[in-house]
Amino acid sequence: QTARTKFTPTFLLLGPSGAGKTSLVSLLQKRSSNPDDDEADAANTRISQVSSAVSLLLPPSVPLGSNKYRSENDASLKDKHPIPYSMIDTPGHGKLRAEAALSHIQNPALRGVIFVVDSSTLAPEDSASRDTAVYLHDTLLALQRRKSGAKTKTQIPVLIAANKQDLFTALPTGAVRERLQVEIERVRVSKSKGLSAVGEESGADAEEDVLGGGGEEKFSFKLMAEEYEISIDVVGGAVKGEEAGKGVKRWEEWIGSCI
Ligand code: GTP
Repeated sequence: QTARTKFTPTFLLLGPSGAGKTSLVSLLQKRSSNPDDDEADAANTRISQVSSAVSLLLPPSVPLGSNKYRSENDASLKDKHPIPYSMIDTPGHGKLRAEAALSHIQNPALRGVIFVVDSSTLAPEDSASRDTAVYLHDTLLALQRRKSGAKTKTQIPVLIAANKQDLFTALPTGAVRERLQVEIERVRVSKSKGLSAVGEESGADAEEDVLGGGGEEKFSFKLMAEEYEISIDVVGGAVKGEEAGKGVKRWEEWIGSCI
C-alpha cells in the first residue's frame, strides 16, 4: 500500500491570525452534515494556540481528482458516498508558526495546503500585507525543501483562499494574486541579501534556501510550478458576513481534485 491509500487524505490549513481558518473549518464541518446548505454559518471562533485535526466529509457531488483515471463503468463512481478527509487547523500567530504549523508539511498523509488570507488587509500600505507574504513565503519554501529533499514524490498543491470577499475593502481575487507575488518577491530579495551577507561559503546550499531557486527571474506562482511542480491556485470567497458561503464550493472542488 502506498501513502496515498493508507491514510485519510489530510489538508493543512495555514494563514495569518484572523484570516478565517477556524471559521472555515467550522463552515466545512457544517457542510459535512448538510452539504446542500451553502448558507451554513460558521460558528464563532477563538484565537487558536495549538493545531487540531478535524474529521470532515466531502459532499458526494464534488468530483475527485482520482476519478479522472477510472473508467466510466467503474462502480466507485456510482456509489455516492461522502468522502472522509481531515483538516489540520493551525495557530496563525507569528511565534507559533514554525513549530505548530509548518512542521505538519512533513505529514505523510498530506494532500494539499490551504493558505487562508484576509483579502481586506493586503493593500501595499497595510503592515498585515507584509506579514501575510512572509508567512506564505516560508510555507512555499518549506514545500520546496520537502520536494528537493526527495524522500517523497507526492506533489503538494497549494490553494490560496482569498477570504473576506464580502468586505468592500477586499481586493478582488486577481489583485490578491498580483499583490502576493509582488510582496513575496520583496521578501525573497531581502532574505537572499541576508544569505549572501553571511558569507560566500554558504553558497553551496544557497539555491535551495532561496524560494524559486537562485535564478534571475522574478518570483511568480508560475515559477513554482515550472521549477518545483508546486501548483498554486488563488480562489476568492467569504466564510462569514453577508456573502457567507460564497466560494466554498470551489474550495471544496479544489480539495476534491487533490483526493
Ligand atoms: P487564528 O486562530 O488567530 O489563527 O485566526 P483564524 O485564521 O482562525 O481566524 P478566525 O476564523 O478566528 O476569524 C477571525 C475573524 O474574522 C472572526 O471575527 C471571523 O468572524 C472573521 N471572518 C472570518 N471569515 C470572514 C469573512 O469571510 N468575512 C468577514 N467579514 N469576516 C470573516
